[in-house]
Amino acid sequence: MKNSVMIFLVCAVIGFGGGALFNQAKGSNEASTPDVETTKQTETVAEGNTEVVQPANTVSGEGQIISDKGCLACHAVENLGLQGGATGPDLSDAYTNVEGKHGKPIEEFLKEPTSAVMSTVIGGNPLTDEERTKIVEALKIASEK
Ligand code: HEC
Repeated sequence: MKNSVMIFLVCAVIGFGGGALFNQAKGSNEASTPDVETTKQTETVAEGNTEVVQPANTVSGEGQIISDKGCLACHAVENLGLQGGATGPDLSDAYTNVEGKHGKPIEEFLKEPTSAVMSTVIGGNPLTDEERTKIVEALKIASEK
């Protein structure tokens, strides 16, 4: 009985001691190992940050298309919780006020904008019918909030 306890202890000491020595050797031999681990940690933190930021921009899934198409570079859509640039107006009420402001319904405006800046934007990167429909739907939801 006593013998087997002793054997167990000796094995444990050898096991742990060996493991610790091996780790030490690894640490001193491969100086780059800690660096790799640091990089990994930084990446994890960065990913965590993205995850925190993204929900703010996708609070309501319908705003995704406006974000995807780069509209947020110049427009915010406050009613959808979307932060954006201030070059263009906030689009929260665009669904209802574009026709009065630009002389055509938003669907048409996004096809052939009457404003110079938007003509350039759409001319350089036209929206597919599906994208336009999605954007109009999102802005309709925004205008109803
Ligand atoms: C380079 C900056 C820029 C980008 C990118 C941009 N816009 Fe605009 N947008 C403007 C500006 C500036 C106006 C105001 C034009 C005016 O009133 O003559 C405008 C006006 C509009 C309007 C009319 C709103 C109103 O109240 O007058 C709508 C709708 C619109 N943009 C939608 C979009 C959508 C959708 C996208 C993405 C596909 C987009 N914009 C991308 C700059 C931009």
